Amino acid sequence: MTGIPASLGLPRKPPGTARQGLGATGRLDDWALAPAVQAILFTVCATYLFVSGILFTPLLGTPYEVDGYLSPLFSPLFRPDWLPTWISPGLFILWVPLGFRATCYYYRKAYYRFYFADPPGCAVGEPSLHKRYAMETRFPFILQNLHRLFLYLAFIPLFFLWIDAGVSVVHDGQVRLGLGGAILFVNAFLLTGYSLSCHSLRHIVGGQLDCFSCSRRTRVRYTLWQRLTSLNLHHMAWAWASLIVVTLADVYIRLLAIGAIADPAIRF
Ligand code: FES
Repeated sequence: MTGIPASLGLPRKPPGTARQGLGATGRLDDWALAPAVQAILFTVCATYLFVSGILFTPLLGTPYEVDGYLSPLFSPLFRPDWLPTWISPGLFILWVPLGFRATCYYYRKAYYRFYFADPPGCAVGEPSLHKRYAMETRFPFILQNLHRLFLYLAFIPLFFLWIDAGVSVVHDGQVRLGLGGAILFVNAFLLTGYSLSCHSLRHIVGGQLDCFSCSRRTRVRYTLWQRLTSLNLHHMAWAWASLIVVTLADVYIRLLAIGAIADPAIRF
């Protein structure tokens, strides 16, 4: 968060080198393609996950667990007896991954571009209504600073996702190697990669150190920081892969639950 003294008010956004006016640019490449594809993908996945996590079961009665497979949107499952049937148990957990993703540094860059055109791309002009530049110092965008808190919280459902994947391997007293279990493992793996590649985590581990080699503790932190940095280089890929797979995992379990598909599995 940057500190702009209140007495100075908000500065005019510096014109920079981009041409003025929405979409004005000297770029010759197809700069709008990536934000357009990302906007479609993000909107489809986010809308589906919201509807599935909050509305599907109360409105349509569609189960979110079947044959030992639990949709990742409901893990850890908290379903007290007093919960009315018109309230989805997903409400208790979804705010954590939702807050984590919404405040993610990578997703901010992406949706600032494709939703707010602020800016639509590097060296591309913005709408004139963006002349006043509050950055993330005012509501609602000041809430982006909660990202580190959501990072800590995100490890709780992640822990349970690994347990769910492991538990799904044993069903009806048999070992079951099924496609559903494989999807749950891949989902937990990708979400772990996404969480560990977080910019904020990298800073927690290796930031605010003047010397990496001065003590055993700082050397350990440096080693960890190097590992996280190698993951962080691919944070965008982790973000998209984990978003797509968590969406597909829920779709798969919902289809299984309504009997639309069968789960190919080896049992012994
Ligand atoms: S920066 Fe993307 S999850 Fe933290």
